[in-house]
Amino acid sequence: MRVARTVAEVRAFYRNERPRGTTVAFVPTMGALHDGHLSLVRKAGEAADLVVVSIFVNPLQFGPGEDFESYPRDETRDVGLVEQEGVNLVFLPAVDQMYPEGAVTTVHLDGPLATTLEGEVRPGHFDGVATVVAKLFNAIDPDVAVFGQKDAQQVAVIRRMVRDLSYRTEIVVAPTVRDADGLALSSRNVYLSDDDREAATALHRALLAGEEAWRGGGAEAAEDAMRGVLDGADGVEPDYAAAVDPYSFGAPTGDGPVLLAVAARVGRTRLIDNVLVRP
Ligand code: PAJ
Repeated sequence: MRVARTVAEVRAFYRNERPRGTTVAFVPTMGALHDGHLSLVRKAGEAADLVVVSIFVNPLQFGPGEDFESYPRDETRDVGLVEQEGVNLVFLPAVDQMYPEGAVTTVHLDGPLATTLEGEVRPGHFDGVATVVAKLFNAIDPDVAVFGQKDAQQVAVIRRMVRDLSYRTEIVVAPTVRDADGLALSSRNVYLSDDDREAATALHRALLAGEEAWRGGGAEAAEDAMRGVLDGADGVEPDYAAAVDPYSFGAPTGDGPVLLAVAARVGRTRLIDNVLVRP
């Protein structure tokens, strides 16, 4: 496995070591890797000849007062994990490599997709995500990029950016990996105390109740059911419980799939989860 710390090193790898005609699948991450991330890496391995993983805690997508400084970082462990998965290149840029002094150009999304739910609670978050993913796509030029359904709104934002800015990359979405009790794996789960960890199962329970209610009574019934589970759980402070169109994040339309999405604070940790339900 090769390690690149600069865009120039990524390009040198392509020029000197990438066999002619090979395809590239890319998995962007912020590190603190868990089995959810590794499932994306495996999916990438099935989708193309070479796999590139990036590990970069992107300051642009953290708001003031969020956990940028304390976000878990363990480069040695992460590099070992991706090497074991047979990854060909890992890109580990420093902040000044991605954001040169005086940078003034960013990607900005208009409209409800970036300003509802996560976008409302975390203003500017999706502009930060889109900007770093655009820059990573420019450096890596992947044929395929794999994202997790866990971050459903991020998936919708990236799909839109790819279409709007004419990226050639195909976006592949991988299912959410969960612990045995339903809690979605997340790098932020390490912040949870034992009590928090127990309380955190409310998110998945809310989604299960939401799905059942949705089958009986539609979007509003689903929202009520999810809200009921979150409100009834000790140590859980809900941010939102919503049934939305998975592409636009507006109200669900017609008889396509519906995204049930929840976010809540548990202790000092903010958690999100979702399920896609189909009629
Ligand atoms: P990060 O939170 O590290 O997640 C990297 C990828 O792993 C994302 O596509 C995310 O959806 C996926 N992922 C996280 N938990 C998962 C789980 N339990 N099951 C399946 N996939 C899971 O998302 C980001 O980083 C950043 O916003 C990034 C795209 C790298 C841009 O900075």
